[in-house]
Amino acid sequence: MNAFEDLARLLDDRIGMTIDPRRRTSIEARLAGVMADCGFSDPQEFVRRLRSGLDPALLNRTVDAMVTCETLFFRDRAPFEAMRGIVLPKLREARRDFRNLRIWSAACATGQEPYSIAMIVDDMTREFAGWRVDIIASDVSQTALAAARKGLFSQFEVQRGLPTPMLLRYFRKEAAGWRVSEHLQAAIDFRQINLVSDFGALGHFDVVLCRNVLMYMDVERRRDILRRLSAQLAPDGYLLLGATETIVGLTDDFVATPGFAGLFTHRPQKRANVRLVVNS
Ligand SMILES: C[S@@+](CC[C@H](N)C(=O)[O-])C[C@H]1O[C@@H](n2cnc3c(N)ncnc32)[C@H](O)[C@@H]1O
Repeated sequence: MNAFEDLARLLDDRIGMTIDPRRRTSIEARLAGVMADCGFSDPQEFVRRLRSGLDPALLNRTVDAMVTCETLFFRDRAPFEAMRGIVLPKLREARRDFRNLRIWSAACATGQEPYSIAMIVDDMTREFAGWRVDIIASDVSQTALAAARKGLFSQFEVQRGLPTPMLLRYFRKEAAGWRVSEHLQAAIDFRQINLVSDFGALGHFDVVLCRNVLMYMDVERRRDILRRLSAQLAPDGYLLLGATETIVGLTDDFVATPGFAGLFTHRPQKRANVRLVVNS
């Protein structure tokens, strides 16, 4: 087996990444870049080192080089309009006695997705006065997470999807770009989480965004992750996938919300089987 196939198998094992053979040239170029940066000349030796498990930093670096972190603020618009218009008002009513909401952005890339959510929640301050709203944002890529935590975005990035009033309200111009306001940054708990691994310890959520990540995985991985997400989601919770992603053939646990591409709720029969555990 050559080094490329070995690497492809390793990425599939570790992060569920399926490499489209049409992307082979670009993946090989990324592989050559990591190898050169880390002082390897023999691809077999490089993959052996990755597989040995002795060098987690090298594995992190390789994963970072291979994943696609394309994202933008308020991506696809409709799901975020649904958050503001349906999801948060309904959950506010349903949780009025607990006054606690948990939202998880499960593949947050460089942070535009959780910051978009944080802006919506902040914009609804009056409705959520006295509430605790936890926003957890995770990704497998350490580099993406470091950028997300930093909260510094280029002119190009803030021009993609972010309405000007939001830019002026929540960002400050610095020499290096636009810095997100500290209170939004502080509202988000960023963590490194690999969706292929067990994420049960995170507890239950009212809203899970798992957008534009399952599309890089094979059908079995998608099924497995959707099954585990279903178990973590409150019976009346909401799952958001990318606007072009489907659950057809992957799970019967969810139903689509007509008129809102990418917005799913538990199938009514399923709700009865999901126990809501209130997180402490
Ligand atoms: C295309 S971005 C999507 C970002 C955002 N959710 C959006 O829709 O704009 C895909 C992200 O999934 C992350 N990712 C890939 N495999 C992952 C895994 N096994 N566990 C967690 N995150 C993963 C990548 O690092 C990347 O940041």
